[in-house]
Amino acid sequence: MNNNFDVIIIGGGPGGYVCAIRAAQLGLKVACVESRGALGGTCLNVGCIPSKSLLNLSENYHKAQKNFFDQGIEVSDVKLNINKMMKNKNKSVQILTKGVEFLFKKNKVTYLKGKGVIFSPNNVVVYDQNKKNSYNTNKIVIATGSAPTSLPGIEINEKNIISSTAALSLESVPKKLVVIGGGYIGLEMGSVWKRLGSDVTVIENLPFITPGMDREVSDEFQKILSKQGLKFQLNSKVISVKDIGKQVQIEYQDNNKNNKNMISADKVLIAVGRKPYTEGLNLNKIGIKKDEKGRVKVDKKFQTSVKNIYAIGDVIDGPMLAHKAEEEGIAVAELISGQSGHVNYNVIPGVIYTSPEVAYVGRSEEQLKKEGVKYKIGKFPFLANSRAKVNNETEGFVKILADSKTDRVLGVHIIGPHCGDMIAEMALAMEFGASSEDIARTCHAHPTHTEAIKEAALAVDKRPIHF
Ligand code: NAI
Repeated sequence: MNNNFDVIIIGGGPGGYVCAIRAAQLGLKVACVESRGALGGTCLNVGCIPSKSLLNLSENYHKAQKNFFDQGIEVSDVKLNINKMMKNKNKSVQILTKGVEFLFKKNKVTYLKGKGVIFSPNNVVVYDQNKKNSYNTNKIVIATGSAPTSLPGIEINEKNIISSTAALSLESVPKKLVVIGGGYIGLEMGSVWKRLGSDVTVIENLPFITPGMDREVSDEFQKILSKQGLKFQLNSKVISVKDIGKQVQIEYQDNNKNNKNMISADKVLIAVGRKPYTEGLNLNKIGIKKDEKGRVKVDKKFQTSVKNIYAIGDVIDGPMLAHKAEEEGIAVAELISGQSGHVNYNVIPGVIYTSPEVAYVGRSEEQLKKEGVKYKIGKFPFLANSRAKVNNETEGFVKILADSKTDRVLGVHIIGPHCGDMIAEMALAMEFGASSEDIARTCHAHPTHTEAIKEAALAVDKRPIHF
């Protein structure tokens, strides 16, 4: 094999593999280094994909147990076979990671298996067990992603004190599960195990869950999850977590009262965020600067402090989301090829795949207030949407925030059925600079959940039809 490349991408997750494919499409000679043994990064292997599989399967189980009877579907003896469920999840993961390998072959991207180390701005060495190979390149893209973080003095052992990785592969349903952190991971994985039978308590440091989300939505979200049986201990800081063999003891402090409490569980899931992963890349020696949070510093064109080395995805600033990394991967491949790649950070949707889902794009009410932007609100409940009604999925609402003067849509926040898919329409509308009137005058198919979006847009001008 010829060891000279135009670009070597370190990391085969959604940022790295998408960047590799786009760069190859643009005619560059590309290699992608990945040490995990499978392409797809955290997202495909131990993140988005396996969690969505378990969210879907656990919801089916829950519905068969709790909802079918009332809907005239009488099944008896619904049993959980966790082993089979995990196999199903693993199969989905395997199909998708192999799919990326196929895409590499199709696009003539060289897949270098092993751990990549940057020896000089034009040289990457790949270590694979006892083998060591050196490759020359014009450009390097760092796309090494992130890893779970823990709390001071608390070590994740992936036995009883677990991260999302082990939470995706438990062999039995823990009787009691304590989740530390009421963010994306905590609430998705808490939902999975609650549906499968665990008694779940979420301990959150702040007085509300999902920080950063529009508060009205996050309050509604917490109400709905509480109704589903998740317990919340808000405004509470975890002080210590002790694995005493069969059980874990968690000590936490109420931030208001300052009194200490103890709770025990079979497993504790630490879901307090992720940190950029740059270990062993040799960044200090090469002179690549990082910020105070350990993120690789880049300019607007994703260039690091070493000009021919770029960085994208979770290792740089911004939301740690697979689709954000993908957009950056495409932009950087285009910039390297002399095109004008660009990412619109104002229009990056976010979705929490619980039931109901939560989805948003653009700014929240709190952000608009902070920025002093005057806005109008249009809201529409799924209770008044015919499709949601016939499907018995009436929880939640659509909330559209539009500029008071120009009517331009500034943010859309939805909690409700299938809104993770519906938010794409709002991202597109915002990308095109739509006004709420544009959305209100767009014909939406009947009966669909998307009519709630049209109605919320009509409600911005106080003229909804069905509410
Ligand atoms: P997160 O940042 O979403 O939530 C962490 C939560 O932990 C916050 O609510 C925070 O206030 C709380 N917390 C921090 N310190 C605490 C303490 N000492 N005691 C109690 N609570 C504490 O982080 P999470 O859930 O770990 O997810 C990591 C990343 O993965 C996120 O950036 C997220 O974007 C991404 N992700 C995205 C998903 C999706 O797109 N659906 C799914 C899962 C993860």
